[in-house]
Amino acid sequence: MKTPIILGIESSCDDTSAAIIQGRKILSNVVSTQKVHQNYGGVVPELASRAHLQNIVPVIDQAIQLANITKKDINAIAFTRGPGLLGSLLVGTSFAKSLAMALNIPLLEVNHMQGHIFAHFIEEDNLESPSFPFLCLTVSGGHTQIVKVNDYFSFEVLGETLDDAAGEAFDKIGKLMGLNYPAGAMIDQLAQLGDPEKFKFPIPKLEGLNFSFSGIKTSVMYFLQKNQNNPSFISENLKDLCASVQNTIIKALLVKVEKAVERTGIKNIAIAGGVSANSELRKKFKDLEITHNCKTYIPIIEYTSDNAAMIAIVGSLKYERSLFTDLNVSASARYHL
Ligand code: KG4
Ligand code: ZN
Repeated sequence: MKTPIILGIESSCDDTSAAIIQGRKILSNVVSTQKVHQNYGGVVPELASRAHLQNIVPVIDQAIQLANITKKDINAIAFTRGPGLLGSLLVGTSFAKSLAMALNIPLLEVNHMQGHIFAHFIEEDNLESPSFPFLCLTVSGGHTQIVKVNDYFSFEVLGETLDDAAGEAFDKIGKLMGLNYPAGAMIDQLAQLGDPEKFKFPIPKLEGLNFSFSGIKTSVMYFLQKNQNNPSFISENLKDLCASVQNTIIKALLVKVEKAVERTGIKNIAIAGGVSANSELRKKFKDLEITHNCKTYIPIIEYTSDNAAMIAIVGSLKYERSLFTDLNVSASARYHL
């Protein structure tokens, strides 16, 4: 029998994406990142849904073309049901349902957070998938979680953020420093030329495995206000500021990962989500192999930020187990793992 081909659709935030997967191999992965939000310093939900409506057909068409297949070759459609912005999710969900009906093929709902984690199961040369159980630090613009992954469809969220997500902290602090949204990648670049110990910001002291990032943002804000008498303070110190902020956020993340490893005794650890593209986080995470005797799994950059390949892989795993979704499904903004 031919290995099933699945179309994956992602539209939970500000990226419209479609991917084609056959088994665990990605045949195409097209991502259209909406530029319209840059002027607003954050995602504007209404504009995001409108842009998804404009993008979804061309993005899916391109994914099918690049995979060198036709619509008739698709065996099922996987889509992000949630969590995310409701208006954005509705575009992907409605489109997936209509296309599944038109092609008379099954539908597979996917949790966006599972997608981030399961990007690690996409077949890639020289890249090993994690073995169960493993811990995953999922760090994105909307979420920060440590998840214990027992099996393909069995998870326990051990800790999560009580306020801002790690990516949100990068973005909001970037905005304070006058950087464009989203600021994470730019902070990463500038930090490479700066001194991470130049400025000290407090690392949140929180019991257990939960995170908090709003305090870091507030202390950077007060620090910048205190230095307002020098109008060029930010521009003169931008690289050191970026390096110091990044250093603080990474320390706050890793202290919890270390705690989770000690608490569970699980040494297989992975990172996922947009912030897992951060070069310093990737380096420091890998160091846990030496300091904590862990086996680390670091995703390829293409699958860190929002993309449909990660939705397609979960779809493929669900298809193998006949975990299909009824056509009367609706999008769910607060869809838990
Ligand atoms: O996973 P993602 O694309 O979207 C959500 O599901 O939220 O993550 C986007 C986030 C943004 O906050 C962005 O600033 C951050 O990932 N990001 C980075 C880097 N690249 C993207 N943060 C730090 N360093 C990076 N290199
Ligand atoms: Zn995401």
